[in-house]
Amino acid sequence: MPCHPLTDIPWNPARPRIALIGFMATGKSSVGQSLAASLGIPFRDLDREIVTAAGMSIPEIFSRQGEAGFRALETRLLQKLACGSDPLLLATGGGVPLRPENRCLLRQGFVVIELTAEPETVQRRVGEAQDRPLLTGRNNSAAIRRLMEERRPAYEEVRHLQVAVDGLRIDEICLRLRSRLAALPPASSLVKPESGD
Ligand code: S3P
Repeated sequence: MPCHPLTDIPWNPARPRIALIGFMATGKSSVGQSLAASLGIPFRDLDREIVTAAGMSIPEIFSRQGEAGFRALETRLLQKLACGSDPLLLATGGGVPLRPENRCLLRQGFVVIELTAEPETVQRRVGEAQDRPLLTGRNNSAAIRRLMEERRPAYEEVRHLQVAVDGLRIDEICLRLRSRLAALPPASSLVKPESGD
């Protein structure tokens, strides 16, 4: 599938389609819900869609089908959600940008916003929770930093905008996101006029 260039942002203020990406526990779901409500558009959470489709929790999917089974389901559901044209705010799991086909799906269908956080912020938010198999038993800032570094190129390749969340409340993050979105040129203005000759 040909990938949309990053400069060609599919932004239509009248029909916003926004995907939030970012490392685990950067607040994609809570910020996504709040931003969707303030924009008056539907909100979907890809992890929740996966849990519903599989009929089991994420740790259960990882233990029964392995990470490969989880990633296959993730891509299948992303494909479904990415092909629509109705307004949508989609919160994605932290590993979604790792597959090249997912990056293409995100870029062609959504304005892609990365939420970033310091490893210490992630560590604090994850705490003792056991619902993220990739951090279970490895919730320390060195391991988080390593995984963030590994993932950085994939996130950079797909995002149109980036907002740091450390120390900010959800409403403050939403305000920042809304002003960044308001500054985007509508996609139609990026279309170059045909040359006359
Ligand atoms: C994952 C992130 C999780 C979830 C799964 C794998 C990852 O979602 O999809 O545990 O690979 O980063 P959150 O980013 O919402 O924690």
